[in-house]
Parts: sequence; structure tokens; C-alpha cells
Amino acid sequence: MVSETNVEAAIQMAIAREQDAYDLYTNAKGMVTDAPTIDMLDDLAQQELQHKAKLATMLEGDVDKIIARDSYSRYTDLKIGDYLAPAKLEEGADFQTVLIVAMQKEKDSNEFYAEMAKLTTGAAKELFEFLAGQEMIHKNKLEALYDEIVYQEN
Ligand SMILES: [Fe+2]
Ligand SMILES: [Fe+2]
Repeated sequence: MVSETNVEAAIQMAIAREQDAYDLYTNAKGMVTDAPTIDMLDDLAQQELQHKAKLATMLEGDVDKIIARDSYSRYTDLKIGDYLAPAKLEEGADFQTVLIVAMQKEKDSNEFYAEMAKLTTGAAKELFEFLAGQEMIHKNKLEALYDEIVYQEN
């Protein structure tokens, strides 16, 4: 059985991950000179900060109640750490590598939030669905950017 602390810990990890994403996009901005790309990365960074704030607000509420009782076993099977493990980025990684890591992070975040949405109801479910959708959009935007860069180089 999952304790409320575990749910809280998962949300704390998600908050840390949103901060990581913000840092990643903020650093990535410094690696490019193309104005539309900088705008896009800035946009992504700001959205991650908003996600962080929404999750922090959720923690102020009754987090012990957000996982439905009959979903406890599925929740414990989730292996939250698999979704939220910090993505590794080596020192001196080039922009393409940063994009690959970011795409993976967005995919993992999307899956994590989508799973949480399945286990929750009401406002929590709505927030997780919203976040899952946003991370999917982020992943798609990064893929388009990645394709554009690879295409330009070849
Ligand atoms: Fe996010
Ligand atoms: Fe994202």
C-alpha cells in the first residue's frame, strides 16, 4: 500500500524534474543564435516553470487523497523512479545531443503524467492530463527542430 508520503515524494520528484527541464532549456538557449529557436526554447522553459508552480500548488492540497484507493497497487507498480530518473547530459554536449536528451525527458514526463492521470480523479486528473498533453507537445516541437537541424546539415 502506498502512503501519502510516497505520492508526495513522486510529486516532489516531478517538481525537481520540471526545474531540470527549465535549466536544460535555459542552458540550451545559450548554444544557439537563431532567433526563432531561442524563442521556442524560452517558451519551453517558461512552460516548465508554470508546470512546477501547478505541481507545487497541488502539494498544498490533500495529496493523500489523489490516488484512488482501488488504484494503490497500480500506483506502487508504476516504479516512479523509472519515469523520473534524471537524464544524463555530459559536459560539453553539443546542441543535437541536448535535443536528444530533452526529447527523452519529455517522453518520460508525458508517460509519467499520463499514468498519474489514469490513477487519479477530479482536479488532480485534470492537471495530470494537461501536463501529459503539454509534454507531448514539447516532445513534438523538439523532434521537428531536431529534424530541421539534421536536414540542414546533410
Ligand atoms: Fe513540464
Ligand atoms: Fe516539457
